[in-house]
Amino acid sequence: MLSVLLCVLLCACVLLALRLRASRGHELPPACKGSLPLIGITHLIMADNSKVWSLMESVGKDTMKKGGVTSSRIGIDRFYFVTDPEDALTIANTCLDKPRFYKFGEFLIGQGLIISSGSKWKRHRKLLNPAFTASVTHGFMETFNRQAEKLNTELAEFAGKGPFEATYYIQNISLQASCLNTFGTTSFHDEELFKQFLETVDQAMNAVIQRFVNIWQHSDLLYKLSGLKKKQDVLAKTYTEMTNRVIQKTAAALKEQHNYRNIVEHKTGAASFLEIMLPLRENNSLSDQEFKEELDTIVGASFETTAQLLEAILILVGSHPQVQERLYDDNDFRMMQIVGQERDVDKEDLRKLVYTEAVINECLRFQPTAPVLPRCVSQDVKLKNYTARAGSLCFILAYGIHRDPVWGPDADQFRPERWLEPDTLPDISTAFIGFSLGKRSCIGKMYAMTSLKVSLVHLVRKYHVMGDHNKLQFTLDVTLKPVKGNEISLLRRKKDYL
Ligand code: HEM
Repeated sequence: MLSVLLCVLLCACVLLALRLRASRGHELPPACKGSLPLIGITHLIMADNSKVWSLMESVGKDTMKKGGVTSSRIGIDRFYFVTDPEDALTIANTCLDKPRFYKFGEFLIGQGLIISSGSKWKRHRKLLNPAFTASVTHGFMETFNRQAEKLNTELAEFAGKGPFEATYYIQNISLQASCLNTFGTTSFHDEELFKQFLETVDQAMNAVIQRFVNIWQHSDLLYKLSGLKKKQDVLAKTYTEMTNRVIQKTAAALKEQHNYRNIVEHKTGAASFLEIMLPLRENNSLSDQEFKEELDTIVGASFETTAQLLEAILILVGSHPQVQERLYDDNDFRMMQIVGQERDVDKEDLRKLVYTEAVINECLRFQPTAPVLPRCVSQDVKLKNYTARAGSLCFILAYGIHRDPVWGPDADQFRPERWLEPDTLPDISTAFIGFSLGKRSCIGKMYAMTSLKVSLVHLVRKYHVMGDHNKLQFTLDVTLKPVKGNEISLLRRKKDYL
């Protein structure tokens, strides 16, 4: 073991020396806060992996102060940190490949859209785009409404009983909606299985970050010898078995009924992702493996993000009573007049829920669900004041971009009203990156916005929510997860008794 360690250490030193030589004579942006010569911020990442988020938050603030681009090292890699909106777009559109450490998540969701790079990503993105249109998303309205109703019922036992954590309930309902919309089946409707699935994904995300902060385990060799690999293998087996079972069962049933439609002809939007994408497997555009990986990716990318944002929204509106009341019964954008107290949200309501959309956007700006967007710099990229060197890595930091001076003097305040004044907004194609930016931005944005609007209408018309976002503490487990202070309290609205 010791000789393997020494060998890896030697290789790392040689690689570092080669990289230092290659970047000599090249002007670097200012070093980010805490960066030391040669090792950069490696010591900060390795010192305590639970502090990755506070580190990224402080690097984001520091980068903003230093003009929008800083630099450092993590392990043997040169990193650029970018909070300048224009430079972020340049990076997002020229650096389409994800860093090697994204592959740490491959054991779970394979090489689906989130992880894949190069021509494979380009081809798959083109193939999958038609599955994310408005008509397909509107086909999920029934599921979104039923799941939101179910969440209300599950939360009812907590109403009037003081603070509690709603995380598990929100995640469970979001996962169920994701599985129903992806696999279109209730054969997956097994509470015990869902519980196991949630735990698996939670541990898997944590394991990805553990491997990232444990610089030694970036080496495939050391990783294979580690306990983490064994743990990940068990998690991957559970996940794969679950989704394999559903895909095979559903595909066979659909084939038998000759029920699947051509993706191009698909107009009604009443089918699951599996059903919509099945022709891609039948005509060999996607292999069996690729097909499964894309479906796993959709579930993996959709349920946690949407659930986390919904929980963040509840805490934020619970901390801002005037926002909540406007959301519920505002004179200009009346949730109550648009949808009323009882009926389902329908697709016509979606565009009318203007203030609801403003609240969702502001929550995502204020507390981004995916606050760090990593990219591989495969060729020299000219930024406004520097050149990002080929072979380095870049972190686009949402925390900084979302607090950039372009947002005005109240950038640090939670103020959904800003979204109602389009003339005062900065260019949101670069300054708002809650769903990422450029060519690799989130393919599921419409799905997420639709699901969140439906959930919020159901929740806010039934309950007063109370929370305190000042007490929140986070960890960065791929997405930004609250670890403390996320309790909310619910009170039934009086109108609910009528
Ligand atoms: C509030 C909810 C969501 C947020 C905040 C969010 C955010 C993001 C972000 C920031 C990225 C870029 C990630 C990166 O560059 O590493 C991304 C990519 C992606 N998202 Fe979402 N997402 C959400 C919901 C969804 C949903 C509902 C789906 C699917 C139904 C989805 C599917 C994807 C996929 C497949 C990608 C990869 C796109 C590509 O690289 O071409 N997301 N999302």
